[in-house]
Amino acid sequence: MNHAELRGRLQRSGSHDDWVAALAAYFDSYELVFGHGTENSADEAFWLLRHQQGWRDELWNAPPDRSLIGPVVDLAVRRVRERKPLAYLLGEAWFAGLRFTVDERVLVPRSPLAELIERGLAPWCALKPGDRILDVGTGSGCLAIAVAVHCPGTLIDATDIAADALAVAAGNVAAHGLQERVRLHRSDLFADTAERYRVIMSNPPYVPAAEIGSLPPEYAHEPELALRGDAEGLGPTLRLLDRAAEHLTPDGVLIVEVGDGAEALMKARPRLPFVWVEFGRGGRGVFVLEADDLRRREHTVQGRRNRPGDRTI
Ligand SMILES: C[S@@+](CC[C@H](N)C(=O)[O-])C[C@H]1O[C@@H](n2cnc3c(N)ncnc32)[C@H](O)[C@@H]1O
Repeated sequence: MNHAELRGRLQRSGSHDDWVAALAAYFDSYELVFGHGTENSADEAFWLLRHQQGWRDELWNAPPDRSLIGPVVDLAVRRVRERKPLAYLLGEAWFAGLRFTVDERVLVPRSPLAELIERGLAPWCALKPGDRILDVGTGSGCLAIAVAVHCPGTLIDATDIAADALAVAAGNVAAHGLQERVRLHRSDLFADTAERYRVIMSNPPYVPAAEIGSLPPEYAHEPELALRGDAEGLGPTLRLLDRAAEHLTPDGVLIVEVGDGAEALMKARPRLPFVWVEFGRGGRGVFVLEADDLRRREHTVQGRRNRPGDRTI
């Protein structure tokens, strides 16, 4: 289907469901890759339309507003020609039921951690007001802000190494009115504070360097710093594992997303008792470790350092 045919189909359609079907068929005519906030062409079409309607629920069952055809077709054509994630074209993303402003300075929020955050991180910990949480590599601020909203009274520090990502996060923190509870820090992994955290969570970059070039074109619009791990992808995660215990409370937990890196990580750290989270809404590659497990590992490393030549953990 070309864009003239799309326009014709929209003009002949009498409902928004027909518009979604027409847009989805248009998207399906090209080799688009989804996964930046939606998983398929119909959801992408629905999002595009709802955004253009200003998310006004009452408009959905009314007859389509034909004046929207021009802007809707323009956006659909850009999605196909530029292969840009719809989130960047619209300047918005939805995560854990919340709206975020996004642009190419930050990864499009999509972590399965949303599901965990929406249930207050149960059963991994029972957060209470005053608990401190650290979000490492905050990007748009989506994890930090979602925790602040879904876990009332918690206090969040969020770090990023990229100043331009932090500028986007700051806008989102302000938009959600959370300046009192979410503090942003520019730093390499951990915040430069003396705080101990009940939870450290992170969705660090974990794509192996050699795979970056072969990702679908949609990913090329995202900051490489947000995607690229190291040769194996695990570098930032291993650094987190090595230092997290210093920053956790005695009953603290570390929660990290590594995507497809789970197997390689278990091989790299065979002594750590990773617990892999199962998600009802899809997604994988998120582990949980308790502070005690990380501390025991610290002792193991210390002990083993005394044995020359034996450096494997
Ligand atoms: C995969 S993105 C995750 C963004 C956001 N937390 C999310 O889930 O959408 C990783 C983020 O980590 C940041 N980052 C990369 N290396 C870092 C480091 N050494 N210290 C802190 N942040 C880092 C990147 O700038 C990027 O914003």
